[in-house]
Amino acid sequence: MISVEDQVEKVNRLGWLDLDVDPTIDLFAEISRLKKQKNAIILAHYYQDADIQDVADYIGDSLGLSQEAEKTKASMILFAGVHFMAETAKILNPDKKVILPDLRAGCSLADSCHPKDFAEFKSKHPDHIVISYINCSAEIKALSDIICTSSNAMAIVNSLPKDQKIIFAPDKNLGRYIAEKTGRDMVLWNGACMVHEIFSLEKITRLKATHPNAKLIAHPECEEPLLKIADYIGSTTGLLNYTMKSADTEFIVATETGILHQMIKSSPEKTFIPAPPNNACACNDCPHMKLNSLEKVYLCLKYELPELVMNEEIRVKALKPIKRMLEISKQYGL
Ligand code: 13P
Ligand code: SF4
Repeated sequence: MISVEDQVEKVNRLGWLDLDVDPTIDLFAEISRLKKQKNAIILAHYYQDADIQDVADYIGDSLGLSQEAEKTKASMILFAGVHFMAETAKILNPDKKVILPDLRAGCSLADSCHPKDFAEFKSKHPDHIVISYINCSAEIKALSDIICTSSNAMAIVNSLPKDQKIIFAPDKNLGRYIAEKTGRDMVLWNGACMVHEIFSLEKITRLKATHPNAKLIAHPECEEPLLKIADYIGSTTGLLNYTMKSADTEFIVATETGILHQMIKSSPEKTFIPAPPNNACACNDCPHMKLNSLEKVYLCLKYELPELVMNEEIRVKALKPIKRMLEISKQYGL
């Protein structure tokens, strides 16, 4: 058995616990046993592998996951998602242990916004309120007035006086979409998600021609030309709900492919086609989300490592705009 010191050293060096897992173990049963034993909860994003979604206590979009993190009574949260999501759970739960299977699971969008550059950008627009998309670091949240997600961005912007000038960061595609929908004056940070910018408009247009009855559904992190031809635009939960409620039976899905697991589970009789990307491997997997695996979830829960630890001063500053987001969402029934 590896010593505690060696485990910590391994996590510090690699970002995850690189230990052999006995292949005869029933990981589903073991994870379920460990959850009960440790009074732990697994929160998973829709972009996680199907196996991880199947062991989760709650699967959702960024807003749902934050709301669930805020209200959980569990003593420990295993966050199966990326770093900024686990960090948000920790900001809301300073006294709980928050663990994540792989500390390296970052986000290209969050990485596009460095606190030093953002502070400079902010100082150029002193009369603007700062709304930051939840896909950003705690340092950026600490520099923001309100946090938003793709499912409440419209409500958050609409909750502000009409003449209020807004800085929106870090996703320019979501920002542009919301600015257009609300008619608000918004200064956008120039960031984007590597997964949602990779779709091929040409291939999607061809696919639509060969599947004339298929509805194109897209996440608002996609680029403007794709959003212009989409039949429905929404967060991951929004997209899932749309496919469940719609009378249509065929969908071209322009977001990360992990969401297809719940779509197929909820509507097995319907057809879901991942929107084709512009790359040679023809996949729209998020390399950060997909760093997690069922084995890593098991090791993480067993050894309670890696643990998310953060600077208390930043945590307190970042909590304020997150709380504001949660309050406005409540007022709007979201
Ligand atoms: P939502 O699940 O909130 O729509 O966010 C999508 C995403 O890109 C998460 O990284
Ligand atoms: Fe970040 Fe995009 Fe991956 Fe979401 S899908 S975690 S926004 S890189």
